[in-house]
Amino acid sequence: MTNRMIITGGNRLFGQVRISGAKNAGLVLMAASILAEGETILDNLPRIRDVEVMTQILNELGVVTRWNPDDSLSILVPEGRLNCTTSYELAKKLRASNLLMGALLGRQGEAVISLPGGCDIGSRPMDLHIKGVQALGAATVIEHGYIYAQSHKPGGARVYLDFPSVGATENIMMMASRTPGVSVIENAAKEPEIVDLANFLNSMGARIRGAGTDVIKVEGVSQLRPCRYAIIPDRIEAGTYMVAAAITGGEVKVQNIIPMHLHPISAKLQETGAYVEECDEGILVRAGEKILPVDIKTLPYPGFPTDMQSQMMALLCCSQGSSVIVENVFENRFQIVDELKRMGANIKVEGHTAIVEGQPCLYGARVKATDLRAGAALVLAALAARGETVIDDAGHVFRGYEKMPEKLTRLGAVVRTE
Ligand code: UD1
Repeated sequence: MTNRMIITGGNRLFGQVRISGAKNAGLVLMAASILAEGETILDNLPRIRDVEVMTQILNELGVVTRWNPDDSLSILVPEGRLNCTTSYELAKKLRASNLLMGALLGRQGEAVISLPGGCDIGSRPMDLHIKGVQALGAATVIEHGYIYAQSHKPGGARVYLDFPSVGATENIMMMASRTPGVSVIENAAKEPEIVDLANFLNSMGARIRGAGTDVIKVEGVSQLRPCRYAIIPDRIEAGTYMVAAAITGGEVKVQNIIPMHLHPISAKLQETGAYVEECDEGILVRAGEKILPVDIKTLPYPGFPTDMQSQMMALLCCSQGSSVIVENVFENRFQIVDELKRMGANIKVEGHTAIVEGQPCLYGARVKATDLRAGAALVLAALAARGETVIDDAGHVFRGYEKMPEKLTRLGAVVRTE
């Protein structure tokens, strides 16, 4: 399997790039599909490694999946009970496998979910997911690396999340959609992927209101029906190509996007001096004369997304001044710093804060992708660097970016894979 990207930097990127469907929406919609029996069809699902793993997880549960000639995915959910256990082998490859907890509980009142184990970007507890499903009537036990959850008498309830966790909000929405009574999620996550999940479930017959605000109300229904649904575009993939234009001194139009989802990213890019304009088919980004330093704080939506923090760090490494980045969502998202330093970056980390001193240029080097977004940031740094960069463990990038080498090549980059 391809696991290395080799990039010769220095080319300005020009042209248009079509953004794929959102990874994070696609994964949760795939999990939610099991709430209805019959054939659900998902359009605009990206063909990335994480999606492949999710199809394998669904297959293990007894669900049949099939890619159609028009690139949609059919998810055929049989009648009767599904196998309710996600295996460690697959769960450790995909943390989002934990989204099957809410879906299985909503469908058949029982779920055995493998805890995925350690993570590259920090501790990822599931206490809020568990608190949510417990409030809706599930009893849970953690034993031998698995969460055993069972709900004999599920009922709607009010759940307050101490932090607006995306995954916990999604698990509770999925369980609540088929739990009798009214459930209310307070301090819910407001990410566009949450709204997409609500729209998807509602088109299956669920009754969900308030998605995209702090309070989501779900009136449980006894049955959901399968549907055909097109997933929203990937705002993080779009943001990554927007930074690619800015960091290489180029001009790129990102197409097939929802501009509103990109506002937090567009606003910061503009502060760095890039020209960003919404147009009919997308957003045009043209690099400014120089890259200005900016300060960034990651926050839940509509704050600046943690999933774009590493890519912005790469850009700020090439800025004319000093920037402060505060990571408020994940505790270990600065692993990329040592890799960027191998390329000539000057970054100091103190706890959750990184101070980036911009450099006149970065140099190609042999580096290693430590996680998905760190991998994307190394690609961006490599595009701007002098000489050749070899990115090992680039498989991380292919977990989340559809056809990245091809898309970059079309924009004028020099990229090959091994
Ligand atoms: C999702 C996204 C991920 C993104 C993240 C934040 C998917 C598949 N992944 O991950 O790309 O970076 O949102 O936007 O959609 N937390 C708890 N207890 C819990 C759950 C979470 O303390 O029970 C904490 C986490 O440790 C983290 C923070 O909440 O510090 C945010 O996590 P969360 O929003 O749950 O992220 P994910 O859903 O895992």
